[in-house]
Amino acid sequence: MKIGIGNDHSGLQMKQQIAEFLQEMGHEVVNYGTDESARCDYPVYGEKVGRAVAAGDVDKGILICGTGLGISLAANKIHGVRAVVCSEPCTARLSRQHNDANVLAFGARIVGIQMAKMIVETWLSTEFEGGRHKRRVDMIADIENK
Ligand code: RB5
Repeated sequence: MKIGIGNDHSGLQMKQQIAEFLQEMGHEVVNYGTDESARCDYPVYGEKVGRAVAAGDVDKGILICGTGLGISLAANKIHGVRAVVCSEPCTARLSRQHNDANVLAFGARIVGIQMAKMIVETWLSTEFEGGRHKRRVDMIADIENK
């Protein structure tokens, strides 16, 4: 899978570890995040990854900031993006099965690297269930079009 990854300064170290983990799993990683430790603005990177996912330049997006919150809020402003913040694998799995989430976010100040890897592995290996969930996901898209 081709995965766009984005981060602010808080997520830099975890971004590097997760990018390496993704490559070990055989995924292609496109880096949209900062590689500097200087303080920067998370909306920039949430938007970049959101746009890449919406345009189909990458299959899915992964975002890391201090909490996962701000960067996911920015990504969710992009038409077609369904970004979710997950701090454990159960919501990561359900966000794929029920919500067809196309961007995953988490916080480097909230989860440790082992938990982050479990979240990523679960999220990427879980399929959308469709069926009754599709109608609800379509309803979310309808809101964007109003
Ligand atoms: C940066 O200090 C921090 O606010 C940011 O990484 C993120 O947690 C925002 O939601």
